[in-house]
Amino acid sequence: MTTFWSLYVTVLSLGTIFALTWLLLSTRRGQRADQTEETVGHSFDGIEEYDNPLPKWWFMLFVGTIVFALGYLVLYPGLGNWKGLLPGYAYLDNDKQTAFANGQTGWTGVHEWEKEMARSDAKFGPIFAKYAAMPIADVAKDPQALKMGGRLFASNCSVCHGSDAKGAYGFPNLTGVGWRWGGEPETIKTTIMGGRHAMMPAWVDVIGEQGVADVASFVLTNFHHRQLPEGAKADPVAGQKIFAGNCVACHGPEGKGTPAMGAPNLTNPGAFIYGSSFAQLQQTIRHGRQGQMPAQAQLQGNDKVHLLAAYVYSLSHGDNKPAE
Ligand code: HEC
Ligand code: HEC
Repeated sequence: MTTFWSLYVTVLSLGTIFALTWLLLSTRRGQRADQTEETVGHSFDGIEEYDNPLPKWWFMLFVGTIVFALGYLVLYPGLGNWKGLLPGYAYLDNDKQTAFANGQTGWTGVHEWEKEMARSDAKFGPIFAKYAAMPIADVAKDPQALKMGGRLFASNCSVCHGSDAKGAYGFPNLTGVGWRWGGEPETIKTTIMGGRHAMMPAWVDVIGEQGVADVASFVLTNFHHRQLPEGAKADPVAGQKIFAGNCVACHGPEGKGTPAMGAPNLTNPGAFIYGSSFAQLQQTIRHGRQGQMPAQAQLQGNDKVHLLAAYVYSLSHGDNKPAE
């Protein structure tokens, strides 16, 4: 903050406090000391006001807030560039102590947060490390690990995958209805650590609107064994040729998918994340899709991801499977 703004903030804050103090004291002066039945003389909708002094408790409360405000502004940063008397990193009781790069010391919310994190690392670090050394499938059988993993999931993953991990439009179900990238314990961990970026190309410029309708009708009738909607102008036989020429490279000759590139199994409509109606299929094929799973390595670190992978794995294996 420049000196000007620092002074601006300081003068405005202290000025307000002193002005209110003056207001409080000046209105109190000249007031009678005793209780009375007399009114001050004005009337609003027939309601009048006794000419009584301010209650003492109220006055003291006001004085208390002023004292609190001044004390706070001395101890904590609040007045422009004043950093407050409370020390900053001197509080940290481990060897991670450093000053801020810009030389700032004193209390800040960032300090408090880092202190909190250091404390929780010290407390939970060894527990995380213990599980990180175990195979994921074994961690997935440990009730304490699953509880911790479940909590991590609730705060980091459920926004997209749902609190029951059953997914939503655009976000896959993680309870084992069908994996896009693979459901082996280590593969799940790789997915969470590094994230995933799926690339389904847009096809309308390649095969045209009729081609989109034809190949969608092929997926619908051949892979999903469903009827085309009444009056749909689409030819599954023509669609089959388009599929063989354009789609098998990623989705495989039988449409069973290629986990290495996140190309889903097209014969499993229950695991589709963009819908499997005739209209939705055409929409997907026409414009393509680019689903993105954000990488967690930086955010969570290896040990927490290990627990998360075990939790996700447990959702399709063993006792932790959700009820249907
Ligand atoms: C370059 C590889 C590639 C090719 C070629 C390809 N796809 Fe895909 N397809 C993908 C990937 C990857 C996804 C997953 C997209 C996502 O998750 O966002 C996908 C998703 C889909 C989906 C959506 C499934 C769901 O979960 O809702 C459909 C339907 C589909 N593809 C059909 C086709 C058809 C039909 C063709 C041929 C015209 C085709 N794809 C060609 C890679 C490919
Ligand atoms: C911003 C939304 C978002 C968040 C947050 C998110 N994911 Fe995902 N995740 C996705 C999307 C989208 C995909 C599908 C990518 C694709 O199209 O292939 C995905 C895919 C996955 C897959 C692969 C599923 C499969 O079928 O192979 C796993 C496993 C997964 N997420 C786990 C997690 C975990 C664990 C977390 C919490 C740390 C998490 N995700 C947080 C959006 C999210």
